[in-house]
Amino acid sequence: MPYIRESIITTVNEAGEVHIAPLGIIAEGEGWVIAPFRPSATLDNLSKRPVAVASYTDDVRIFAGCLTGRKDWPVVPVENCPVPRLSAALAHSVLEVVEVQEHELRPRFLCRVAAEETHAPFTGFNRAKAAVLELAILVSRLHMLPREKIEAEIGYLTIAVEKTAGPEEREAWDWLMARVDAHFSDAGKSSN
Ligand SMILES: Cc1cc2nc3c(=O)[nH]c(=O)nc-3n(C[C@H](O)[C@H](O)[C@H](O)COP(=O)(O)O)c2cc1C
Repeated sequence: MPYIRESIITTVNEAGEVHIAPLGIIAEGEGWVIAPFRPSATLDNLSKRPVAVASYTDDVRIFAGCLTGRKDWPVVPVENCPVPRLSAALAHSVLEVVEVQEHELRPRFLCRVAAEETHAPFTGFNRAKAAVLELAILVSRLHMLPREKIEAEIGYLTIAVEKTAGPEEREAWDWLMARVDAHFSDAGKSSN
């Protein structure tokens, strides 16, 4: 399996409006592949303006927020680039699309790294941050996964959150758990 780096991808549409989405960018040689499932605003934007910025952040509220309707995270301009980065980025890469591999479900945008910059130090791993990231992935796949698997994974991830979360990780976890609860309560209603 290739190395995947979990990032916050910014793109812009033809009107210049910014779109923010968490995506795992896939290492390929010196570059990265952005692979959005259809339908996706990131995909539409990249098809028309083939440049993205990958922001690398340890603020897991941004991953959780984007998946729970909280997309209004501050961005700042990047020099010589039409697309801004997250202001919370510890570092970012400007990714220019050099090839598109069309696919019915999941096209692949092969990108070269046009520029990279570091903004703040990485201050170490935290288990609750990793757990929030895992729960965010689960939330993005709720419609595909069986309830038992979701509950078993949440059971395990909860241990790290209870032992190691700060207020930001706790907030991000709560946003995601509200989404999980809503999913199960909708599923309960439709099976009645
Ligand atoms: C850590 C993480 C990685 C993700 N990676 C991908 C990805 O590679 N491709 C994808 O289509 N969605 C991915 N998702 C889900 C997208 O963030 C989500 O579906 C999003 O709404 C994309 O659609 P949009 O471009 O319309 O916003 C990921 C979510 C998380 C939390």
